Amino acid sequence: MESASLKNSQPHIRKLGINRNHWYVVARSTEVKNQPVGVILWNQAIVLFRDSSGTVCALENRCPHRQVKLSHGCVIGDIIQCQYHGWQFKSSGECVGVPYLGKNQKLPTCKIRSYPVKELDGFIWLFPGKQALADTNPPLGVPEWDHLNYIATVSTINCNAHYSYLIENLMDMYHGHLHQNWQAWANPELQDINENNNRVDAHYQAQSYYRIDKIWSISQLFFPALRRLHPEPLDVSYIYPHWVSTLGKDFKIYCLLCPVSETATRAYLVHFTSLNAFWRLHKLPVWFRKFIKNSLFGSAQKLLDGLVRQDVLMIEEEQQAYLHNPELRNYELNRALVSVQRLMRRQAELDKAIKNN
Ligand code: FES
Ligand SMILES: [Fe+2]
Repeated sequence: MESASLKNSQPHIRKLGINRNHWYVVARSTEVKNQPVGVILWNQAIVLFRDSSGTVCALENRCPHRQVKLSHGCVIGDIIQCQYHGWQFKSSGECVGVPYLGKNQKLPTCKIRSYPVKELDGFIWLFPGKQALADTNPPLGVPEWDHLNYIATVSTINCNAHYSYLIENLMDMYHGHLHQNWQAWANPELQDINENNNRVDAHYQAQSYYRIDKIWSISQLFFPALRRLHPEPLDVSYIYPHWVSTLGKDFKIYCLLCPVSETATRAYLVHFTSLNAFWRLHKLPVWFRKFIKNSLFGSAQKLLDGLVRQDVLMIEEEQQAYLHNPELRNYELNRALVSVQRLMRRQAELDKAIKNN
């Protein structure tokens, strides 16, 4: 896909860095409880914990005393305590206590890095870039998360591959071939692409069996014999660094990214089924609608996990093939992927430009 001249002057797409000046998703809200949790975002080890008010805090996952991980420690009120010698740190990263400090000794002035972090729409969003830019670029958010008309299912993706493989998989709807009976769409045709410095929107015309207009139509998910194809628009967007897709009116999927390293990517695939078509439902009391939303949470789990397993297998194999023989050239027919790679490059360059300022 890449021309020879580009190849020499630019890093290979599978070696590309990220633009750290965006909000990434590092965990689900439910993953951060009373104990500290260690995560890795683009080679940076970070510890997440909740203070006494339940607010999530994020620090470098490193005790400055002897460089062990703070995530082995525990939380006491608003501070995190290292497991080894018990040094204590507040959420700004300053050391505020050493259990064996002598009367005439001063607290060490060591400070570890703290990160801007937000809990929003069921996920923990973290900004690993230049702190001054955190407010200029708000997190993508998932507005359907708390909306009473949307039923959510979340599948976690852990793949040993560069993030570009995952994004390309998600933007290339011609890979429905892989999913056979699990696929939600058929016969996609790329119609047009819009792109700018922050996003690529690819519009496909496809066919789908998904139409949630009667309560029994949910059963199409489980019984292929009940499926009837009809035309539906299929829109996929790479809104750097995340991905969003809509299929007709009834389905929306997000993929929220946490690139771990050059060869590892974690992501959360969040699938929403809309109940918008059931207007009678909207007249019911809010408590009952909440009950329905909560009871149906995860109803597409098996389907989503199955799709993820199939995709991850392919993505990891692509990565292995690249590591084994980086000279092998791919043949690409989908022009959306050219736009996607262009955006990744542009964003990686922006990161460098900001860093050098
Ligand atoms: S290594 Fe953390 S307190 Fe000593
Ligand atoms: Fe897929």
